[in-house]
Amino acid sequence: MRKLRLGVMISGSGTNLQALINACEKGDYPATIEVVISNRPDAKGLDRARGAGIKAVCVDHKGYEERSQFEDAIHECLSDHKVQLVCLAGFMRLLGSEFVGRWKDRMINIHPSLLPSYKGLHTHARALEDGVKFAGCTIHYVRPEMDNGPIIMQAAIPIAPDETEDSLIAKTLEYEHRMYPAAVRLIAEGKVRVSGNKVAVKEDVALPNAGLINPAP
Ligand code: GAR
Repeated sequence: MRKLRLGVMISGSGTNLQALINACEKGDYPATIEVVISNRPDAKGLDRARGAGIKAVCVDHKGYEERSQFEDAIHECLSDHKVQLVCLAGFMRLLGSEFVGRWKDRMINIHPSLLPSYKGLHTHARALEDGVKFAGCTIHYVRPEMDNGPIIMQAAIPIAPDETEDSLIAKTLEYEHRMYPAAVRLIAEGKVRVSGNKVAVKEDVALPNAGLINPAP
């Protein structure tokens, strides 16, 4: 089996990266992580990658005067590793339109809200503040506008009456960790088509155990 070559970009803890590492360690998973790039030298995810024997690189944004130079360095690193799909997993720097254009329909992001609601930061606290009954998370193709782009997969997560920001963050991460490997698998298997601002997923069926993840992983 020819595996899809992933580049994972992080800024912090890297629990989503860990979910992808765990998936890739299974022999029948159709993707491999070729390189992990962090813009922060202290990102815990770099240790997770190294611990799993994966090349881990820090491209520190503070080392570049211009954003374009920083992004060129990332692009070069991804290209050197023959990356076919870039997975943003808690990468917290905005990417410029030129970089995003170079990776159009080859770069995905995970965001902790039911997009298009709650783009940006502090998504869980804002959802609780608004009293919405569902929070969620979303995997989408990246477009130049922040937290925007064709949606591949979403989970709707019911908010409990006694929900706190911490409990909602933890609950949301559980869904993120299930969804990210599932979405990458769909892409690797050629089951995801982008057309305009919409995504069609082949064999998109609601499995009985799929809960509120739609389309089902
Ligand atoms: C995740 O909740 C991810 O959805 C979020 O950062 C966290 C990273 O956690 N991403 C964004 O907010 C992007 N706009 P992790 O480092 O443990 O995977």
